[in-house]
Amino acid sequence: TRNITILGIESSCDDTSAAVIQNGYLLSNIIASQKVHEAYGGVVPELASRAHQQNIVPVVDQAIRQAGINRDEISAVAFTRGPGLLGSLLVGTSFAKGFSLSAGIPMIDINHLQGHVLAHFIKEKEVEFHAPRFPHLCLLVSGGNSQIILVKDHLEMEVIGQTIDDAAGEAFDKCAKVMGMPYPGGPYIDRLAKEGNPLAYQFAKPRIKNLDYSFSGLKTSFLYFLRDQLQENENFIEENKADLCASLQKTIIDILMNKLVKAAKQTGIREITVAGGVSANSGLQNALRAESEKRHWNLFIPKFAFTMDNAAMIAITGYYKFLKGEFIGQDAVPFARMNI
Ligand code: KG4
Repeated sequence: TRNITILGIESSCDDTSAAVIQNGYLLSNIIASQKVHEAYGGVVPELASRAHQQNIVPVVDQAIRQAGINRDEISAVAFTRGPGLLGSLLVGTSFAKGFSLSAGIPMIDINHLQGHVLAHFIKEKEVEFHAPRFPHLCLLVSGGNSQIILVKDHLEMEVIGQTIDDAAGEAFDKCAKVMGMPYPGGPYIDRLAKEGNPLAYQFAKPRIKNLDYSFSGLKTSFLYFLRDQLQENENFIEENKADLCASLQKTIIDILMNKLVKAAKQTGIREITVAGGVSANSGLQNALRAESEKRHWNLFIPKFAFTMDNAAMIAITGYYKFLKGEFIGQDAVPFARMNI
């Protein structure tokens, strides 16, 4: 039988990535992260698309070389169509069109969020593999999204809860910024939280019905709390940084876990996955493990390289769409906003 070889392209935000997946197995996954944004405290869209333009050809070349395949072995090119920054998405989309035309192979458009969910289906040679069964629940937490997704099949998903304002990663990053940390601040908070007392401070938690999230109130409550404290002691942040990080992180995790537990109870599903950049958070991983013990969940935590934006997850999603014959033509346009 013929191999199915998918080239995946990801350029939705500030990482340029290309990956090759053959018959469901990962052969390469190259990620070029953009450093230019650090100085600005957030991703600058125009700089992001320019960096994608510079990176995309060398990143794809490297992915193909590292996979040890010939270009003419590639069956289809899968690219992130959205959601994301339009200028950034355009670079990947245009590249995919050119590649598809010149190689005479079909194109597959991928929803970035579905990619995060399907990261759990990436197989690697010589690595033991267990796929989550269907239906399962995926807690998708990244810089741009916080959702609970009911995953019925590889390509059949339903969002059953989502943030009505900020994403969890945004809450980490915005609060980190207030404390004077570099962007993105999530990983810094994670590191410092390990040395702090999570019960040192209490911050407001949202009261929202159903399975939805809200994080903008927490950000405001954190900001006002610091402003009050700084009036009395201008070194307050420096002197209490670890406790602040630990308490803030605990609050975010409590909010996330509360609705996830509720979703699991409501649906009766105990097959649980987590995805997206924030799933790298060690406190969240510990909370998920503890809850899994207690509630007999079968828990799936992605390996670090698959938590952040990467093309391996785009390629694996492309593989499943290829099997179903779901292709798209040269008239494809990217979308900044896109639902699962
Ligand atoms: O999925 P992702 O790479 O891309 C976007 O959605 O843009 O997620 C990035 C987000 C950022 O908000 C970052 O601060 C957060 O994931 N993040 C973390 C950790 N690692 C990354 N947040 C908390 N703890 C971490 N260890």
